[in-house]
Order: sequence, then C-alpha cells, then structure tokens
Amino acid sequence: MFKDLFKAKKLTESDLDLTAVPRHIAIIMDGNRRWARKRRLPRNAGHQKGVKTLKQICYACKDLKIQYLSAYAFSTENWQRPVNEVNFLMDLFKKTFREELEELVEENVRVRIIGRREGIDTNLLRLMEDLERKTVTNDGFNLNICLNYGSRAEIIDAVNKILVEKNRPREIDEEYFEKFLYTSGLPDVELVIRTSGEQRLSNFLLYQSAYAEFVFTPIYWPEFSKKDLIRAVWEFQNRDRRFGRI
Ligand code: IPE
Ligand code: IPE
Ligand code: MG
Repeated sequence: MFKDLFKAKKLTESDLDLTAVPRHIAIIMDGNRRWARKRRLPRNAGHQKGVKTLKQICYACKDLKIQYLSAYAFSTENWQRPVNEVNFLMDLFKKTFREELEELVEENVRVRIIGRREGIDTNLLRLMEDLERKTVTNDGFNLNICLNYGSRAEIIDAVNKILVEKNRPREIDEEYFEKFLYTSGLPDVELVIRTSGEQRLSNFLLYQSAYAEFVFTPIYWPEFSKKDLIRAVWEFQNRDRRFGRI
C-alpha cells in the first residue's frame, strides 16, 4: 500500500496514456471557504483563489488532451447562502467573464454556461451570452461553467420543454430526451472529481454522470493542482469500467 502511495505521489504526465484520457471531466470545486478559514483569510478570498485554480486546471486539461471540462461554480441550492456571499460570487463571475474573454478567444476555448437562466441578473446574463457567442466557433477545448445549475431543475426544465413541443413523438427515448438537457450534444461525463473530502454529488450532472468514475480528494479546491488532476486521471485509467458486462 505504501509503495502504491509513493508511486502515486510521483505521478507525472508520462504515467498517463494520453490516448485514453476521459473525454469529459466534471469537477465539483468544493472547499473554498475552508481553505480561506485555514489561512485566516476572509472566506471570499477562497472564492477568488478558486477562480485562479480553475484557470490553471483548464490549461492542465488542454495539456492532457481532455476535451470537455464541466466546472460546478454555483448550484441552485447556493442561493441559500448569506446574501453578501451570493453578491460577491455574482460580482466575481462578472469580473472573471469580462477579464478572461479575450484570452479564452485566443486560446480557442469554447465556453458554455450551463444552468437555469431565470434568476440571473441582466448584467451577468449579458456577459454570459457574450462569452458564449464570441467563443462559439472555437474548438480547441470545451469549458462548461455550471452556474445556477441543479440536475433536478435541468431534468424538470427538459420535461417542460418537451411538453410544449408541437411535434413530439408519442413516446420519448433517451436520444430524444437528451436533446432537451442543458448539455445537449455534449458527450457523457466519464470522470467526476470532488475536492474537499465531501463524497456526494450535490445535485450535479446526475443524468450525465450515470456511468462516470468518481474520484474524491481531501484537497481544498483553491490548492488543487495539475499533479492532483494527473492523479485523478491515473486512477480513472486504472479502473475496470464494465458497463454491466462481465
Ligand atoms: C465551493 O466552496 C464554492 C461554492 C459552492 C460556490 P465552498 O464555498 O462550498 O467552501 P466550503 O465547502 O464551505 O469549504
Ligand atoms: C457544491 O458545493 C456546489 C459547488 C461546488 C458550486 P456545496 O458546498 O454547495 O455543496 P454541499 O452544500 O456541501 O452539498
Ligand atoms: Mg462546500
């Protein structure tokens, strides 16, 4: 066991099979507040550092030839946080979308914002639409920011969209249903990573993760690094994915 741990510590990119990396990784970026508390910083400093971490992890995903990254930024449940924290997060999203737009375009990243649009203020909505529109033809890497996202909301929204479809079939199948999800057209999630030691999905991509592998790490999101991503992908590559077969 210690030998394994030792080996895991020393993992580098060359330990991975870059032709068999997960096509779509979803990350529950958790532990920002605990990271800040541990360092006696205001909790919002954890969120700020979290944005920087996400940027680094996007570059790391590109290096590892991962095509899709879905990052959980704000859940439908997160509105229940103190109003000043919610406001701080919304301002942070605005600032980040404004500041990163140019680099995302240059880096050939296609950005999609996944989640319920109702409840988002109009300034942020405009920036989200701008980011999506200006990166729509990019195909180097796909970044999905899950903002005001909840799986149950997504599934209910899909059902309601189907109900108003004029030419809907009498019976719907998976192929038809998936077209109405926010993630329509994207490949299934193959690896879910959650930081901070919590081991739950918290309403994240339930449908899309039906056959995903899960990696949980105690590391708080602001200090998650490329080496931790490599370790998660290495674990993924050492799992036996059976899909119900023997
Ligand atoms: C994740 O970190 C960020 C968001 C949910 C917006 P948290 O803010 O949940 O930090 P912890 O889990 O309380 O430490
Ligand atoms: C999940 O983290 C949501 C995001 C990372 C954006 P939370 O910290 O909100 O989840 P719970 O409350 O621990 O389940
Ligand atoms: Mg949390």
